[in-house]
Amino acid sequence: MQRLTGTADDLTFLAERLRAGDLLALPTETVYGLAANVHDEAACRRIFDVKGRPLLDPLIVHVGTLEAAERLAVWNDVARTLAAHFWPGPLTLVLPKRPIISALVTAGHPTVALRQPRHPLCRALLAGHDLAVAAPSANPFGYVSPTRLEHVAAQLGDRVPWGLDGGPCEVGLESTILQVSDAGQVGLLRPGGLPVEAVEAVLGRPVVDARPVKAPSAGLVAPGLLERHYSPRTPLRLFNADEQPAPEVGEAVVWQARPALPSGAGIDDFWLSEAGSLDAVARELFTMLRRLDEGHWPRVWLQRAADVGLGRAINDRLRRAAAQG
Ligand code: TXA
Ligand code: MG
Repeated sequence: MQRLTGTADDLTFLAERLRAGDLLALPTETVYGLAANVHDEAACRRIFDVKGRPLLDPLIVHVGTLEAAERLAVWNDVARTLAAHFWPGPLTLVLPKRPIISALVTAGHPTVALRQPRHPLCRALLAGHDLAVAAPSANPFGYVSPTRLEHVAAQLGDRVPWGLDGGPCEVGLESTILQVSDAGQVGLLRPGGLPVEAVEAVLGRPVVDARPVKAPSAGLVAPGLLERHYSPRTPLRLFNADEQPAPEVGEAVVWQARPALPSGAGIDDFWLSEAGSLDAVARELFTMLRRLDEGHWPRVWLQRAADVGLGRAINDRLRRAAAQG
């Protein structure tokens, strides 16, 4: 992978490479994406190949402007209200697709998932060059999403020619995915970087949980909902803030905030934030999960976040990271 820093010349060059069919590791404020020109079916097919992702799992399409998004999907007033409040940002809207979007990108679904990221380099590339890109998170299928370009380079570097370095991701968790029906009904498909409470405040009503109760193993509505996903190799054991972990010598504990006292001799302590701020925890979480895989702990105890705001998405990722098999 060749790393570019995002000068105006870099962006012009990368826009040309995307139009020529190349893949690009693209920074967004949530996680890094593995991007291809959405109108190039062969390039989009290579995304699945490089990630080892089943063709049944549809891709999110990233746009630089609302006008571009209007050309790709059929919008209604509720969707427009949500975009007006939360775009650009960590919100993906699932809307009826227009014919210009290929069935490969949507895995045969009649809907397309759309997002306008707010990372400045991503915006400049997409809006400045009138590009729309399909981009899943740039990790091997089932593994933790990358929040730094180095994460992508380490795992997919030999299969992705270009990497745009936008620094560490500002949010650190994937986008919140909402489906919006023709009647304007809003359902949650994946909790993420935009707290559901913020959406409910704008709508003035609750967002219904539209996640399948238990995801089947293949051919799903949203395979990000696979029980085991976002998974490091290290076995994880979760505990609540009001519980005490019971690590054995040689194990490690990851706290939400710096602990007042160390856990004891032979036990390694880590923390996701100094004081427990959910924003800080979200930013650090995936880097920590990767770091655990670089160590040799037979088991790591991980403290859950408070189940509000971003904590709901953090706990969703923790639950799946800890799921076995
Ligand atoms: O923050 C994010 O959303 C990141 C960055 C790169 O934008 N992308 C991301 O993509 O997390 P990915 O592919 O790792 O997860 C996308 C999820 C998958 O679970 C997929 O099944 C779901 O979105 N999805 C895509 N299109 C869909 C559709 N038409 N209906 C329902 N779910 C859809
Ligand atoms: Mg993903």
